[in-house]
Amino acid sequence: MTTTSSTLADATAPAPKRVHFKTWGCQMNAYDTERMAGLLRPLGYAVTEEASQADLLILNTCHIREKAAEKVYSELGRLKAQRKPGSKLAVAGCVAQAEGAEITARAPQVDLVIGPQSYHRLPELIARSAREAGEVLHTEFEAEAKFDALEGERPAPGVSAFVTVQEGCDKFCTFCVVPYTRGAEVGRATDRIVSEVRALAAQGVREVTLLGQNVNAWRGAPPAGIGGEAWGLGQLCRHLALIDGIERIRFTTSHPNDMDDALIRAFAEEPKLMPYLHLPVQSGSTKILKAMNRRHTAEDYLRLIERIRAARPDIAISGDFIVGFPGEDEAAFEETMRLTREVGYAACFSFKYSRRPGTPGATMPKQVAEDAKAERLARLQALLDQQRLDFNRAQIGRTLPVLFEAEGRHEGQLKGRSPYLQAVHADAPATLIGQIAAVEIDAAAQMSLSGRLSVVAAA
Ligand code: 5AD
Ligand code: SF4
Repeated sequence: MTTTSSTLADATAPAPKRVHFKTWGCQMNAYDTERMAGLLRPLGYAVTEEASQADLLILNTCHIREKAAEKVYSELGRLKAQRKPGSKLAVAGCVAQAEGAEITARAPQVDLVIGPQSYHRLPELIARSAREAGEVLHTEFEAEAKFDALEGERPAPGVSAFVTVQEGCDKFCTFCVVPYTRGAEVGRATDRIVSEVRALAAQGVREVTLLGQNVNAWRGAPPAGIGGEAWGLGQLCRHLALIDGIERIRFTTSHPNDMDDALIRAFAEEPKLMPYLHLPVQSGSTKILKAMNRRHTAEDYLRLIERIRAARPDIAISGDFIVGFPGEDEAAFEETMRLTREVGYAACFSFKYSRRPGTPGATMPKQVAEDAKAERLARLQALLDQQRLDFNRAQIGRTLPVLFEAEGRHEGQLKGRSPYLQAVHADAPATLIGQIAAVEIDAAAQMSLSGRLSVVAAA
């Protein structure tokens, strides 16, 4: 809450200020934006969609692929014309973490560079940059402090909310910048997670998605009063399922090597854990997986999927793929196509390999030509699109429990999610927002399903 030493609070209160965010990248970044907005609210900042009206502009950047820094500089150029005189400009996120010093040197209009490990210091840094001429650079690793300081400050949530349980990565896949930009793996304390989820449930949240770069590597002491050995994610999910109001639990993103038996069992035994798992494999070639330092073979992954499906036969699997990693020849790429056919994915992300400076992959021999990458990506994406459509069409005629989240685009329509994370549209009264209702699916497209409220649900 805002505090003031003056008794004439109204007369001396600062004029309302506005902050505008531009966010790139993963859910973790979207979540961080929400958190930054929460931290700035006590300082009098309200979020605006209009860059031209903002007193503070924050670019929350992503460094994972492509010409990340170039996108930031071009956005900075664009903002020059739009910005209100006297407004402050901050670059946050993983580009700030990785290339902070270059940004301050190359873009003097930037007042503040702040890495993901330092967001809890945002209010203090904003105040300081207002006092001092020149930029402030803050990209130190203090992840524990960050979790603590970010608690308790978030905008009113909707029906579904993200909750960070883990940050960082120790895996060092040879293509990836995350271990460098997000630092070592840190798990958030169990009690803190539980109290955040309780608070969210009390505010009407029905679904939580537990977030972490390596979420299934999460370990934590059991909550106070329970005792025993450290918990893994499976136990955490079961415990969160006991919270009144929480109807659905999801988590993302997982590494195959951290899918332990307890977590697989949770899919079999905990109905609130949704039958959807994002489990990236990156490549179907064991040779390439080795070069990527994934530390498992294609066969290991396929056997793991079998075990997960044995536990929860209807589970929908999604994944990430990289094509054109150094050393990937036509035969290795064909193995990716074969693995994809064998798994049968519900939804996937796929990318051309992008050389990230400072990662081992960037200097490996046998880099793949851009046109070969593009051609392979097109082939893989055609297969993945077909699989997604097949998966969606397979729901036609089924009745699915849909958690309604918001009004749809058409009058009288709501949109929600199936257990398999598919967007579902149906005509339904707004009173069903926040509730799970049975929907008979009668149509399926590439990105969504539609159907009719089932009579059973209305009864
Ligand atoms: N090039 C292409 N894709 C990448 N990813 C991570 N690093 C790179 C890179 N250098 C992809 C991986 C990861 C997802 C979040 O982004 O597939 O799972
Ligand atoms: Fe990156 Fe690999 Fe860690 Fe995932 S597991 S964040 S791909 S290094």
